Amino acid sequence: MKASVVAHRDYVISQIDDRLYGSFLEHLGRAIYTGIYEPGHATADENGMRKDVIDLVKELKVPVVRYPGGNFVSAYNWEDGIGPKEDRPTRLDLAWHTSDSNQVGIHEFADWCDSVGTEMMLAVNLGSRGLDEARNFLEYVNHPGGSKWSDMRIANGRTEPFNTKLWCLGNEMDGPWQIGHKTADEYGRLAHETAKAMRAFDSSLELIVCGSSNAHMPTYPEWEATVLEHTYNEVDYISLHMYFENRAGDTANYLAQSVELDNYIATVSGVIDYVKAKKRSKKQVYISFDEWNVWYHSKEQDKALLEGNQGWPHAPALLEDIYNFEDVLQVGLILNTFIRRSDVVRIACIAQLVNVIAPIMTAPNGDAWRQSIFYPYYFASVFGRGTALNLAVNSPTYDAPVADKVPFVDVAGVHDTDGKTVTFFAVNRHLTDSIETEFSLAGFERAEIFDHQVMTHTDLRAVNTAEKPDNVVPRKGTGASVKGGVVSVVLPPLSYQIIRVK
Ligand code: AHR
Repeated sequence: MKASVVAHRDYVISQIDDRLYGSFLEHLGRAIYTGIYEPGHATADENGMRKDVIDLVKELKVPVVRYPGGNFVSAYNWEDGIGPKEDRPTRLDLAWHTSDSNQVGIHEFADWCDSVGTEMMLAVNLGSRGLDEARNFLEYVNHPGGSKWSDMRIANGRTEPFNTKLWCLGNEMDGPWQIGHKTADEYGRLAHETAKAMRAFDSSLELIVCGSSNAHMPTYPEWEATVLEHTYNEVDYISLHMYFENRAGDTANYLAQSVELDNYIATVSGVIDYVKAKKRSKKQVYISFDEWNVWYHSKEQDKALLEGNQGWPHAPALLEDIYNFEDVLQVGLILNTFIRRSDVVRIACIAQLVNVIAPIMTAPNGDAWRQSIFYPYYFASVFGRGTALNLAVNSPTYDAPVADKVPFVDVAGVHDTDGKTVTFFAVNRHLTDSIETEFSLAGFERAEIFDHQVMTHTDLRAVNTAEKPDNVVPRKGTGASVKGGVVSVVLPPLSYQIIRVK
């Protein structure tokens, strides 16, 4: 079987916003407590933050982290997380049926972001609360001083404002599970008024309004149209979420789901253009895909706790998906889709970062390690910055229940104009066959392979654990060759790889 890819230096999709490789941390399960924060841990810094986790997050070069939720934010009182730690209340978290000691709040999170070198993306509660709390929180976070909330921040030890630019106007407000769920009109009005008030404080903020929680919601895509009709001129992004699962154990169909993702983005992009035309607006709204990942491995084991049968535990193990090799391929495919759609998807956040459906796992009082999906995320985040190339890909295809004509070879290409490198991210979806693939490079000075890494495994269900953290890892690729500007590589069945050319 053969496939071909043509890349031309001048044939581009878009400059990629680095924030395409963002992530997310929610007060959920062990993401915060025993995830990033564990004061008694051997590696804890002076703030109680785990250094071993900080190092792994730094390795990923995460550009932005969304916080504090998720469903959690829709009943969160941000004021509970400020002031002396011993005075902070323990609250019941209605979204996840747990309790939260509030030992980590905005100050601790901001300091942690400084330690890992990332930007904050904050969400306001538009579920149980509204405009007033949102404007107070914004004043606390971003105003230099001389007002009630900014002076309180200064009294709490932070003289300089945090200067957070990115703000989410609530979370998944279309979902009946959301605390304070609203209709599209109710939410659209509230989001509009909240955005207006926040812009009155600072017109340069980047505001994100909630789109659909997934493309199977009964209100999709009417929700996007209605919400944007209320908010188009006040917001910069519409947020989308999507989680992937393979409960049926059907690999071919599972790996075709990124075609659904592509359709979802295309549809919402069309809705944005429709509302833009209706408003006679020059302004462009983009997509913030601020929750995406594989999420299904832990669903059965979480049922009892989420149904409230285990009381209100603090930081229990929840949503702890243990990712396998098959998920490496899925995460690679999702990231390739975002790169190819980087003209409309400007921000994306893998959900989440530590312990909760995450690339990084920790044991309380123990080690931190990389899950299998750490690697495709790492490769995209570190080598996927620059200009997305508009590749001409010719690959044999297959039909699956979720989509027809799914190409076996899925490729994204990024030109790092500073480093003068081109990186190809390639997945072979074929269950049994290798595919000989030629990458023709046109308009580039040279074509020499200087980095080639491959992920394959004899067992699709293979995972990394604390005891065996290197079971699923990339290996140096072999056998690739270059002749006259054409790179030839054999893509093994069910494989992920990066080929870097200079
Ligand atoms: O990331 C886990 C949860 O998934 C988030 O809290 C929610 O927004 C989504 O449904």
